[in-house]
Amino acid sequence: MGIIIAIDGVVSAGKSTTARLLARALGYRHLDTGAMYRALTLAATRRQVPPVAGPELESLLGRVHIELAPEGGVLLDGEDVGEDIRQPQITRSVGAYADLPLVRRAMVEAQKKMGAQGGVVAEGRDMGSVVFPQAQLKVRLVADLEARTRRRFDELKAKGVAISLEQVREDIRRRDREDQERDYGPQGPPAGVIEVDTTAMSIAEQVAHLAALARQRGA
Ligand code: DC
Repeated sequence: MGIIIAIDGVVSAGKSTTARLLARALGYRHLDTGAMYRALTLAATRRQVPPVAGPELESLLGRVHIELAPEGGVLLDGEDVGEDIRQPQITRSVGAYADLPLVRRAMVEAQKKMGAQGGVVAEGRDMGSVVFPQAQLKVRLVADLEARTRRRFDELKAKGVAISLEQVREDIRRRDREDQERDYGPQGPPAGVIEVDTTAMSIAEQVAHLAALARQRGA
């Protein structure tokens, strides 16, 4: 048992790390829905099924088995694809699949089932609006552009990626623009969403803050 926590936010606000650590702190499951869209994209890419609504993609959606392992990690038909779904090729093409209504319908249905029992930290843009409108806690993480640029830059540097601070900043700006239309659509953010500005917070502080909010709501 437990409550449903929906987490959403801007690019590089620390959504995934915060959601993962919050789930661990509460003993909840982390529903990384972006990983599900990525796994589907990987399956389609491997089978050369383009992001076009039609029988090919429909059939693929009916056949693939995407599972989020309780300890983290993503299984595609039983295979651990946690690394493969983070490859740049998948990151570039996932948006085209995630924009298709037939893909969203299938994913939303699977996610509703996964969270039906409660005790989940569900991460993704439509968690508080479409998948879990009944969530007891809905959070949107935001942070200013410079803080996000610095975090992303440090992350990439640690991975050995050669990129300038300016390039990182431009990339975040571009993704912000792309997200603006998609995020909530014309209806705006769901009722009751709490915006948390993480500009001056460490990851540990973000997690502690969200855990306190969750406990106020019955976690
Ligand atoms: O959070 P991420 O980068 O792993 O998400 C991968 C892609 O899936 C990204 O283009 C956003 C999209 N996505 C979505 O449309 N709906 C969700 N609930 C989660 C992710």
